[in-house]
Amino acid sequence: MKITCIGAGYVGGPTMAVIADKCPDIDVTIVDLNAQRIAQWNDDDLSNLPVFEPGLSDVVAKTRNRNLFFSTDVENAIREGDIIFIAVNTPTKTYGVGKGMAADLKYVELCARQIAEIAHGEKIIVEKSTLPVRTAQSLKTILSNNAKNLSFQVLSNPEFLAEGTAVQDLYHPDRVLIGGDQTPEGLKAIETLTSIYARWIPRERIIQTNVWSSELSKLTANSFLAQRISSINSISALCEQTGANVSEIAKAIGTDSRIGSKFLQASVGFGGSCFQKDILNLVYLCRYFNLPEVADYWEHVIKMNDYQKRRFANKIIETLFNSVSGKKITCLGWAFKKDTNDTRESAAIYVTTALLRDKAEIHVYDPKVTPEQIYADLDYMKQHHRSNDMTGIAGDMTTKELKDLVHVHNEPYEAMDKAHAIALLTEWEEFSSYDWEAIYNKMYKPAFVFDGRNLLQKDKLSKIGFEVYTIGN
Ligand code: NAD
Ligand code: UDX
Repeated sequence: MKITCIGAGYVGGPTMAVIADKCPDIDVTIVDLNAQRIAQWNDDDLSNLPVFEPGLSDVVAKTRNRNLFFSTDVENAIREGDIIFIAVNTPTKTYGVGKGMAADLKYVELCARQIAEIAHGEKIIVEKSTLPVRTAQSLKTILSNNAKNLSFQVLSNPEFLAEGTAVQDLYHPDRVLIGGDQTPEGLKAIETLTSIYARWIPRERIIQTNVWSSELSKLTANSFLAQRISSINSISALCEQTGANVSEIAKAIGTDSRIGSKFLQASVGFGGSCFQKDILNLVYLCRYFNLPEVADYWEHVIKMNDYQKRRFANKIIETLFNSVSGKKITCLGWAFKKDTNDTRESAAIYVTTALLRDKAEIHVYDPKVTPEQIYADLDYMKQHHRSNDMTGIAGDMTTKELKDLVHVHNEPYEAMDKAHAIALLTEWEEFSSYDWEAIYNKMYKPAFVFDGRNLLQKDKLSKIGFEVYTIGN
């Protein structure tokens, strides 16, 4: 048996590396149109892999060129693969119908058309990308209208890994979900895919459903997770007005086994490529199916997240005497969470944009994110953000002006030297081990710290002399 995966990104790369590790008798080929990305996956120097994930380089080192291959030859991989995973990106549309809400399925459609053109014989096509419910129907329509001599089944097998813990999540998932047609052929395909995962995952954790339930479970899971964060963040605002402490509340409610303790960490706002995109997609689907009340309900999770990011940025501006113009603000962290180099939808991008709008001078340090990525994020924000409220620097600031105001450092102390304020935006653990006394001595006074992750020890910093703001306290 041979496996092909189209899309060598944050999902395709780690997922297939783990399958290759657990199934040494199966050849796994990951293909991508992006030649640079493939070259990075093939780089002898494993620190150059395009995806940073703890433990990933070890799995790649073990499997690469044994039974795991990275290639740009999409056609050949489609021809050879018995099971073809589609793990391409499905971002929010930035144009036309559904702009700013619906998932852009053009990359998925392209895969289906290419498979239809090239594939012969029997194939199982697996939706690994997160897709709106009923996408499998569109794939089937494209395949059956264009393919020749192809007998195929479409399965939905959404991925639940979280970045930063992807390798761990893939080896020990809470569950694997496989949806397919409830016909003899569909059930056989479900069983074929199940038997692969069953090599390392107990069968009782492999959930089999119909294809629509599987597709919709993924959007639902992400919406529920994000909703918990928006819920606790909404309470953090109330805490700040009342003297209650959001961390104490999270503990108090989280010990109720019906609520559970995970995903109750108040923050500057959730980021990442999935939560916002998937909820917007769910909202779009609800409106499409004429369920406005359901759409409004879920849309509020996003609105609360926008509010939290805006509230944090405004807090900085207000505290610094209502203007940050010309002041040096240091952002510690740019990634959307720790242990990843991914910055998509990171709260740092929004907070920085708001501060730039107030003419701050921004200095950034992140242990894993490159300067090119940071400038690209700000540029993208200028053009594409769905809310006018957030596209503050659009139009009136050129890329050159942006670069003049945003400085990226590869060393944290230099980034904080002579700063007016520090905004901690990603919970990288190294931030708590810095020499905060030395940092204080080199900052303008009053020296402000805005801890968007409640990572630092507030009492310790206050003792040194810092003015400290934490979320929900
Ligand atoms: P990504 O952008 O990191 O990777 C997608 C890759 O697909 C890119 O390298 C792109 O060049 C490639 N690609 C696009 N069209 C192609 C084509 N026609 N042929 C060959 N290659 C093509 O995206 P990702 O983060 O890996 O996400 C992929 C999907 O998985 C999305 O639907 C996402 O919602 C879902 N997902 C992501 C995560 C996550 O944590 N990132 C978790 C679960 C699910
Ligand atoms: C998420 C889902 O967790 C995962 O199952 C799905 O497959 C993809 O989307 P990911 O976005 O990679 O994973 O990371 P996650 O750990 O969920 O964090 C998302 C965002 O929420 C981050 O910005 C994180 O900092 C934030 N967060 C998370 C909080 O602010 N508070 C929390 O309690 C948890």
